[in-house]
Amino acid sequence: MGIDIKNLSVNYGGMDVISDLSLTIPEGCFFTLLGPSGCGKTTLLRTIAGFVQASKGNLYFQSNDVTRLPPHRRNIGMVFQDYALFPDKTVAENVAYGLRARGESGDAMMKKVRHELEHVGLGHVMDRHPAALSGGQRQRVALARAMVIKPQVLLMDEPLSNLDAKLRIQIRETIADLQREANITTVFVTHDQEEALSMSDQIGVMNKGKVEQLGTPKEIYSTPRTAYVADFVGAANRIDVSISDANADGTAHIQLGGASILARNTLPAATRDGILIMRPEDLRLSANASAEAQALPGTVVKRQYLGGKTSYKLALADDTVISVESHGDNHDGFDIGTKVMATIDPSKAVVIAS
Ligand SMILES: Nc1ncnc2c1ncn2[C@@H]1O[C@H](COP(=O)(O)OP(=O)(O)O)[C@@H](O)[C@H]1O
Ligand SMILES: [Mg+2]
Repeated sequence: MGIDIKNLSVNYGGMDVISDLSLTIPEGCFFTLLGPSGCGKTTLLRTIAGFVQASKGNLYFQSNDVTRLPPHRRNIGMVFQDYALFPDKTVAENVAYGLRARGESGDAMMKKVRHELEHVGLGHVMDRHPAALSGGQRQRVALARAMVIKPQVLLMDEPLSNLDAKLRIQIRETIADLQREANITTVFVTHDQEEALSMSDQIGVMNKGKVEQLGTPKEIYSTPRTAYVADFVGAANRIDVSISDANADGTAHIQLGGASILARNTLPAATRDGILIMRPEDLRLSANASAEAQALPGTVVKRQYLGGKTSYKLALADDTVISVESHGDNHDGFDIGTKVMATIDPSKAVVIAS
């Protein structure tokens, strides 16, 4: 079931937390709301669930207006950061909860419960209480509880945040598998860009109650439209620049640190000032001292060895400092003080509006 959000505003005590937000989430989509703490992700998710009332605008499931419908009539499954299991009920009874609320009981109901728990690898802990389970198991129970009612929409609010790094990756895969199998429209909330990039069909990057950019993980990462998105999703060098000439093919020349490079130009016509965005991993270091195309000459001022890669800081001739991430053989091979060249493909350097 697709979700349509039209001009939605939500306020707490007269202050808009969500303001005039419109968004279409296609049926079967794994959609992620990504943004820092306080930007309104939970509020938007709870409004979709019906726990929070919109002050303006409308919400549609498929083409049905559900704006005023109470949560229990929306056929949604929800998973929270803190699992929200009933501590005094067994795992099986936790999962059975939504089915009982719909008037189901007996063997037929228990069969569904068992099936759903087996699905998340927990058929063997049905009679235990949540306290006897690990965090990862508890979140799997919460997933089974959400999915057993065959919801039309699955809503998840930072479900991986309380888990350690290894479990987070495991449960990430469980969630992705369940979602794909059931082909259920899913709204997933996170502040973690790696989670968002790895799991989603579409990402909405949120900033202060608005969706600042909407796109596939690749679009969000490789073509950020604002400095906020570039900064929030992955590391980025952001440098104030003035373009010297805008070419008809959407590129422009930029003077930087005594060199000139070609970059993609997304500035409106007649605008010269913008921000140059370059990902550290898109810059390549070489010891070649002679000037070459697309190369920024600089001096290594910092080096951090990170195992599979090395993170460098280079000072350019005008004292601009840029970050460069090196991979491959001998990636930590440039000493502090070494003069180097950092080259970038013109398609990977982008000038956006400031
Ligand atoms: N029940 C509430 N009453 C008043 N303000 C709230 C309430 N819930 C959240 N807020 C405020 O609304 C803003 C958005 O919060 P929230 O939706 O929880 O953001 P996020 O989930 O992105 O961290 C924050 O400034 C928060 O302090
Ligand atoms: Mg939140």
